[in-house]
Amino acid sequence: MKQIFTTTALAAALALAAGNASATVKVGFMLPYSGTYAALGQAIENGFKLYVKEQGGKLAGQDIEYFQVDDESNPAKGPENANRLIKRDQVDILVGTVHSGVAMALAKAAKDSDTTLIIPNAGADAITGPLCSKNIFRSSFSNWQPSYAMGPVAFEKGYKTAVTITWNYAAGKEAINGFKESFEKAGGKVIKELTLPFPNVEFQPLLTEVASLKPDAVFTFFAGGGAVKFVQDYAKAGLGKSIPLLSSGFLTDGTLEAQGEAAQGLLTTLHYADGLDTPRDNAFRADYTKNYPKMAPDVYAVQGYDAAQILAAGLKAVNGDVSKKDPMRDAMRNATIDSPRGTFKLSKAGNPIQDIYLRQVQGDQNKSIGVAIKDLTDPARGCKL
Ligand code: BEZ
Repeated sequence: MKQIFTTTALAAALALAAGNASATVKVGFMLPYSGTYAALGQAIENGFKLYVKEQGGKLAGQDIEYFQVDDESNPAKGPENANRLIKRDQVDILVGTVHSGVAMALAKAAKDSDTTLIIPNAGADAITGPLCSKNIFRSSFSNWQPSYAMGPVAFEKGYKTAVTITWNYAAGKEAINGFKESFEKAGGKVIKELTLPFPNVEFQPLLTEVASLKPDAVFTFFAGGGAVKFVQDYAKAGLGKSIPLLSSGFLTDGTLEAQGEAAQGLLTTLHYADGLDTPRDNAFRADYTKNYPKMAPDVYAVQGYDAAQILAAGLKAVNGDVSKKDPMRDAMRNATIDSPRGTFKLSKAGNPIQDIYLRQVQGDQNKSIGVAIKDLTDPARGCKL
């Protein structure tokens, strides 16, 4: 029988003949492009695409075709949005998301459909804990990691009591737990845990309570638009001068321009910082700024960039053939990632083993002022792989 090929089918047939399963790898971004985390989602996509561009637009010889869904940081829409990419678009690789609650739904959908998932932000501890899975990887952090690093720093500064404030959802609660665990192990005491629903920004009543509790320090988790407002409100309430504000670095990453004077001097802990001044980071920052002149090269951009690096390591091992899931995933899990943050490897549970920097806001930078904890590994409690 005579065969008629379209250009795309011909390219696919040639790729097959060369030992590759398809001519393109379909990557589905499930990210927030609206709401309080919109800028974070955009930075992740930018970072991912930048790495692919630096490789000449291909990974392991494969063209990358992108699909996008705005998850709005809405957990209720998580399963439906995940299935848009998995069932409708039939993507090979899922990249998402920012919000821990949405990531839980995405991880379930990825597990049920055996789709490879790279999480470029959401820190939900459970995903690399009891729900860990061979098809799930993180290029970011667990919620426990950056906050755990701040406990000993706070205690060594002489703070004996702390009040915590965060949004009442997985990321906030787990970040607070991480801080509390190490702060209390060091000898401190968390005297009150204050919360408000995500993504509310009515901070005033909580700040009034902080003023009356008079702790030695406040520890917080906020990110994106909410972080901008929190830092401004904290300063406006006059607390900035009397009660030191500590946080994981999400409070001040990608937000400094909007926070202005109110953020100056703040101490945070995170797996990325400004001023690392390594050739790898300097090259990344120069290229990011060239391609996205209106956006700062922040932690979210790095996480997107490294998600692409993790995928590249897997594709390379199987010559671009995404149907070879097991060897591709083994290569992803065993890869050494040459990240702008510093080289890292993944734990068995799929979470980066990484240095957590102590940073201080100086001008428009989250300047590294040291390493708070080196090679911090998430405990992956409950993970059985
Ligand atoms: C989270 O929901 O896991 C998250 C969101 C923004 C920054 C960091 C963590």
